[in-house]
Amino acid sequence: MPPYLRFDVFTLLPDVFEPYLQASILQRARQRGLVEISIHNIRDWATDKHHVTDDEHYGGGGGMVMKPEPIFAAVESVLGSPPSCPVILLTPQGRVLTQAVVTELAAPALRRDAGDPPHHLALLCGRYEGVDERVRQHLVSDEISVGDYVLTGGELPALVLIDAVTRLIPGVLGDPDGPWDDSHASGLLEYPHYTRPPEFRGWRVPDVLVSGDHARVARWRREQALLRTWQRRPDLLEKANLSDSDRKFLEQLNTGEQDS
Ligand SMILES: C[S@@+](CC[C@H](N)C(=O)[O-])C[C@H]1O[C@@H](n2cnc3c(N)ncnc32)[C@H](O)[C@@H]1O
Repeated sequence: MPPYLRFDVFTLLPDVFEPYLQASILQRARQRGLVEISIHNIRDWATDKHHVTDDEHYGGGGGMVMKPEPIFAAVESVLGSPPSCPVILLTPQGRVLTQAVVTELAAPALRRDAGDPPHHLALLCGRYEGVDERVRQHLVSDEISVGDYVLTGGELPALVLIDAVTRLIPGVLGDPDGPWDDSHASGLLEYPHYTRPPEFRGWRVPDVLVSGDHARVARWRREQALLRTWQRRPDLLEKANLSDSDRKFLEQLNTGEQDS
């Protein structure tokens, strides 16, 4: 069966990708044929003697700008013209990568039937002051930011996106339900986790978790998720999918009837 996902990454720093990709769950996903990731060095498409990929700003000012020619040449030689898949520019000016956006990017891969080609995404990593505006206007189809701060390049954001999208693919994680229980998947932060030993430095695991009563454990986890979200990210509660009993629990928190 073809892979679920294919990423083509365009970058000036191709060497930063493999060490992370090879050291993580992503490598297992690649080896099992669930995802394909190809890294392309934009510099290989610079035609001048010194393979120059950046130049000064028109209008003056410090810093360099990534030239359009090698970027268009790289993307069009790999993906055709117009590109055969969405081209996502990593930029602090893009829409912020939330779990909802991650799910949206993974959705075509999750819907696909056996035998369908992989869901294909191209990622374009900026450097310096970023890419020439004509790249954004005429080559890029989506722009994504990993948060309201500025990094030196789009390589870490590209790895963040690849990691977050790939872990939603069935078979990538050991626990198939894992990604859907995690923080943000249901709109809430996840409940706290404990493992052995049952007591460490006098700090005991909550009794309910060793009770063997699955219904009580499930209720405790749900209430802890609600409590955590209420304490840390009350903004998330407005959009979360809440049951009547969730709402009742939150009302008790708001009126101080529960320990927080
Ligand atoms: C120094 S930044 C350029 C910032 C740009 N001059 C601006 O103010 O919007 C260089 C490159 O890093 C990447 N980058 C930096 N911060 C990012 C973020 N929060 N999300 C995604 N990519 C980012 C982008 O690819 C960007 O082109």
